[in-house]
Amino acid sequence: MSRIVLAYSGGLDTSVLLKKLILEGHEVIAMTADLGESDASTALQTASASGNPASELEAVRAKALALGAYDAVVIDARDRLVNDHVWPALQANALYQGVYPLSAALSRPLISALLVETAKRFSADTVAHGCTGKGNDQVRIELAVRALDPTLQVRAPLRETPLSRPDAMAFAAAHGVPIAHTAAKPYSIDANLWGRSIEAGVLEDPWNEPPEDAYAWTASPQTRPQAADEIVLTFAAGVPGFGALGTTLNAIDGIAALNVLAGKHGIGRIDIVEDRVIGVKSREVYEAPAASVLIAAHKALERLVLTRDELRFKATCDQKYAELAYDGLWMSPLRNALDAFNASFARRMTGEVRVRLHQGAVTVTGVRSAFALYDEALATYGAGDAFDHHAADGFIRLYGLPLDRIARLKAPVAAG
Ligand code: ARG
Repeated sequence: MSRIVLAYSGGLDTSVLLKKLILEGHEVIAMTADLGESDASTALQTASASGNPASELEAVRAKALALGAYDAVVIDARDRLVNDHVWPALQANALYQGVYPLSAALSRPLISALLVETAKRFSADTVAHGCTGKGNDQVRIELAVRALDPTLQVRAPLRETPLSRPDAMAFAAAHGVPIAHTAAKPYSIDANLWGRSIEAGVLEDPWNEPPEDAYAWTASPQTRPQAADEIVLTFAAGVPGFGALGTTLNAIDGIAALNVLAGKHGIGRIDIVEDRVIGVKSREVYEAPAASVLIAAHKALERLVLTRDELRFKATCDQKYAELAYDGLWMSPLRNALDAFNASFARRMTGEVRVRLHQGAVTVTGVRSAFALYDEALATYGAGDAFDHHAADGFIRLYGLPLDRIARLKAPVAAG
């Protein structure tokens, strides 16, 4: 018998898992993380929202206890998600394969940290999760657990014995695990404040356009408002502020409000064939309205403030950062080093970015900063030009010297 902390969502799979581990004779503590899914998903659904998030999570906790969990805890990890994962990723403009803002990926190492902390609190020797053997999340969760406490055992029962939907239903019926009486969910969904991912079902054929019912946070082209919204986002030392959306918004509510506003305009729909860590390609659909807007705004501010060399070099590092987050190496020394690298720019990442939200697109319409390297006197083609045009002549002559030399060689160098 072990004492096991299980990452528990309250859904069918992890409920069946909880029961199975209990039947194996273990003491199971159900750990549920609040990562802001309920806050973020008020987008478009406010009217039908089933109640306040706290009571939903309390119901998840009660369900675990009713199933026979030794104990059940709900941990509000929204601040940690935002401060320790989302803002560092924003400062890295983190987009996997150029498009996916890594919402699920960023949350996994945090879930691992919560599992490890809960294991310590309950003197458990094992942590468990409901990932299958096919996805990225098993890699992310387990690498992070090992980085935090290599003495803990990790179990992935759905990898040990894959569980089909009908098997799960049959087991649930036989063992008193409540089955939600909603129609069979056509997709596999994961969501937190930074985005929502939708996979499986009809999406598995990349030729199929995602049906509208795949989306919950973003409006369809038919229902997007005719009129644009324009807002000014502020950045202070690399961290966005949301005063334009409400004077007293904290970061959590600010991201949620931006999800609602940008989602209303249909911004942040992402549809890609992506490369998983384990080597297969998969078709993934995401909704990340706030992430899409904030990354666009952050990049615009960087272009105004950072030097050309900083921008070129940082773009390479940013791509590496996204790959580390995606590949489960969040807890690696390289990611820590890149955070320090990004922090070195943050002092100057203060300013304002005006964005227009309209018909599925975010457009940066203005940017300004006290740290801007942009100098209108140097850039202008109009009156007041302070640029030394004559200096350009000498510059080009020296800059082109190697080309000049090659062209004058007696022995011609093969072109190209
Ligand atoms: N493909 C995305 C990723 O690897 C989404 C994963 C969503 N996870 C899930 N269990 N549905 O980050």
